[in-house]
Formats: sequence, structure tokens, C-alpha cells
Amino acid sequence: MPGIIVVGSQWGDEGKGKVIDVFSAQSDFVVRYQGGANAGHTLVVNGVKTVLHLVPSGILHPKTTCVIAAGVVLDLEEVVNEIRSLREAGLIANPEQLKISDQCTVLLSYHRAIDQAREKALGKEKIGTTGRGIGPAYEDRAARKAILFGDLFDEAKLRAKLEEALQEKNFLLKEYYKTEPIDAEQLFGRVRELTKELAPYRAKDASILVHKALKDHKKVLFEGAQGTMLDLLHGTYPYVTSSSTIAGSAFIGTGVGPHAAQKIVGITKAYTTRVGSGPFPTELHGDLGERIRKEGGEFGATTGRARRTGWLDLVALKYAIRVNGITNIALMKLDILSGHDKIEACTAYRLDGVEIKELPTNTADLSRVEPVYKSLTGWKEDISQVRAINDLPQAARDYIQFIGNELATPIDVVSVGPGREQTLWIKPLFN
Ligand code: GDP
Ligand code: IMO
Ligand code: MG
Repeated sequence: MPGIIVVGSQWGDEGKGKVIDVFSAQSDFVVRYQGGANAGHTLVVNGVKTVLHLVPSGILHPKTTCVIAAGVVLDLEEVVNEIRSLREAGLIANPEQLKISDQCTVLLSYHRAIDQAREKALGKEKIGTTGRGIGPAYEDRAARKAILFGDLFDEAKLRAKLEEALQEKNFLLKEYYKTEPIDAEQLFGRVRELTKELAPYRAKDASILVHKALKDHKKVLFEGAQGTMLDLLHGTYPYVTSSSTIAGSAFIGTGVGPHAAQKIVGITKAYTTRVGSGPFPTELHGDLGERIRKEGGEFGATTGRARRTGWLDLVALKYAIRVNGITNIALMKLDILSGHDKIEACTAYRLDGVEIKELPTNTADLSRVEPVYKSLTGWKEDISQVRAINDLPQAARDYIQFIGNELATPIDVVSVGPGREQTLWIKPLFN
């Protein structure tokens, strides 16, 4: 089966959007299978930046079909906004380019309101969510109360579900969180308007589409959102998102079997970043962290928040390789590490004086570990104009080789800038 899963191997924002855009030139389908508008995937083409939250990152390629599959929580306002701005830019001229599953969970204003109210109530203990309503929307799905995308096309059903939902949500908003309730009639009217705009993109059963594509040997990319360490089950709980972000989620979120992927590409930043609260063993707090944040432009694509920054964490990456089954790595933002005398990479942790090589799954323990670093020689040259691996400075090549060896996983792609052309291929994508 010619499917490739593209998954974030750290805490998100590794550069998945860029990789999907570049890989899409050789692909027929791109499928978003989990998460929602908490994602911010940045594409840069000829210096023009596009940030996507829900629409798959293959959308700049007119011949690629983009699918929003069942596992996604679909923010109606956000997806309509995105479609409008893409259309204004002359894209998605053909609605067949974007297909939305009837099984997607619809995310509405009350989910966002509850997410934000809950974070406010948590105060210093907050998760640091994106405030996009992701948790509350997935809760509704698990509680079997969600409005599905397919429900929008049956007005009587939609009205009944919306009224039922608002009885409970408004009680919570008004009585518990002491915030404004949501007007059912107004929301119903708005949802009807948004549904009209989304009707041309309705796929009904999107799993049939993807299944057929795989059967016909079409090239299918599964676009992960967030990153491994934000996975609901396998991440740094409770400082995680509310969906499964690891590769296995691609099958569940799309509705295809596990044999659908021949390759799992772990998108890996050459250093580490994290947005929101939670443990981050290699975090740099001083000038060095600030320098990486500034040079890497490490500010959230969704919320604009400053991202926390630190050195590469090989212990966490080995964990990511294991829980995802990562077969290949795309190493991103190597250009940002230019100009450092020394580059550190964390090869082990020390916990209560004992050196450990496995990531502790207990978040309290992970918060206490001290990183053990291996120091590597840096390089001075700007590498953003380099177009072949062999033209990189020796120290940069040594860093790549060191990472590949430590992780025992081949690095297929190295990225030296946000643009498509700033991509160095070591191995072809489809073989
Ligand atoms: P995603 O959420 O994984 O898609 O990543 P984001 O788009 O949130 O963040 C990655 C940022 O790094 C974006 O601004 C990209 O344009 C940018 N980027 C991606 N690859 C590279 C690279 O190799 N070098 C540099 N300098 N920027 C990159
Ligand atoms: P992409 O796809 C980085 C983080 C939030 C917060 C936690 C929970 O662009 O890599 P949520 O709103 O999901 O309930 O927030 O998860 N988070 C991300 N961090 N990149 C993302 O997506 C993220 N999506 C959620 O900052 O810590
Ligand atoms: Mg992002």
C-alpha cells in the first residue's frame, strides 16, 4: 500500500505543514485524521506564507485531493474562513479538491467557550490549551452527544441535537463558570449559513474515498497534527491535547486498516520547542533559549504565543520512534542552529542520581529529570542557501549523522528554510 504517515515526533510545530506541502507534489491524496483548529501548519511558497488550521496542507497543489476525515473536530467557523481565504487566493476552484467526512465531530462556539472558561478557572494550573474548544468537542464525541458533520444536512435532527446540547452547556457556562450562555436560535441560524458554504465539500463516507485510492495504488499522505508528546494516551498527561496524535491514529481517524502505510515519517525539529504547560527536560531558560526562539521565529502559528525552546532530546525522540513506529525522519530547521560554537544533544536523563535512557511515563518524574548532554561542534556558515547534503559544512553533516546513528533511523530529508526549495533529499519519498 502506498500510504505515508507524516507525524510530529516532538511537541508539535516541527514543520509538518512544510513537509506535507513538499511531499504533496508527488501525492494524490492528503488526509487530516485527528485534531482540529488547534493545529497551525505553515506553508511558504515563493515567499508567500499560508497558515492552515483545518484544511490539509496539500491544498496548494490543484491535482491533490484533500480529505478531512472522521477523527477531526471540525470548527465550522474556522473551516469556512479558511476555505474563503483560499478561494480569494484563487485556490480550490474545484470543490472536488476538498472532501469532508460526514463522521467528523462538529465544533461550535460553546466548545470554545467551555475550553476558555475552564482554563481561566484553572489559573496557574492551566494546561495552556489553544482555547479552540478541542477538549470539550472530543468529550462530546466520547459521551455520544456530538453533532456530526452529516447531521448538519438534516435540519430537524440538527435543531434537536443543538437544543439538547445547549441545555447542558449553558447550565455549565452560566451556573458553574459564571459566563455568558449561548443563544440557541442564533447559533442554529449561523450553523445553517455555514452548512450552505460547506455543502459542496461533503464527502459522505470519506473512508470509501481513501480506501479506493489506496486500492488503486494512488499515493496517499496522512497528515498528523500536534506531536507525539501531546498524545492523549502516550504524551505528558495531563499536559496533552485531547486526541491521539501518534501514527496509529491515522488508521482510526480515517477508517482504513493498519496495512495502509508503507512508511511513517517522523517530522523532527533540529532542536525542541513546546507551547503551553508541562514538562520539557531540555528547555533553555536564559539567553540561549531566547536566541533560538528569535532566530527560529518560534511563536505559535495558531495563538501567536512564544514557544518554549531547548536542545534536541534524543531520549524523547527514541520514545517517539517506538510509539509511532517511525521508519524515517525529516530533520527540520537545521539552518536555525547555524552560528553556535557548541550544539548540545540530550542522550540520557538523570533521575534521583541514576542515569536512565528511557522516558519516564510518569509526568511528575519527567518534570524532575536532568538532561545528560553530548556536546557537538557547531558551524558558523549560513546554510539556508545550500541545496545538496554534501554542500553542508562538515559539522552540520556530523550533527545529522550523529542523530541518525543515535536514533537508529534513517534521515531522508533535511530542511534548511521554510521554502519548498530549501529541502535537501537524501532518499526519494516513494520507493
Ligand atoms: P507544523 O505545525 O508542524 O506544521 O509547524 P508550524 O508551521 O507550526 O511551525 C514551523 C515553522 O517553521 C513555520 O513557520 C515554517 O514556515 C517554518 N519552517 C519549516 N521548516 C523550516 C526550516 O527548515 N527552516 C526554517 N528556518 N523554518 C522552517
Ligand atoms: P501543530 O499541528 C503545538 C498544545 C497546546 C497545549 C496542549 C493542549 O501546529 O503542531 P489543545 O488546544 O489541543 O487542547 O491544547 O496542546 N497544542 C499544540 N502545540 N502545536 C500544535 O499543533 C498544538 N496543538 C495543541 O499548546 O499545550
Ligand atoms: Mg504548528
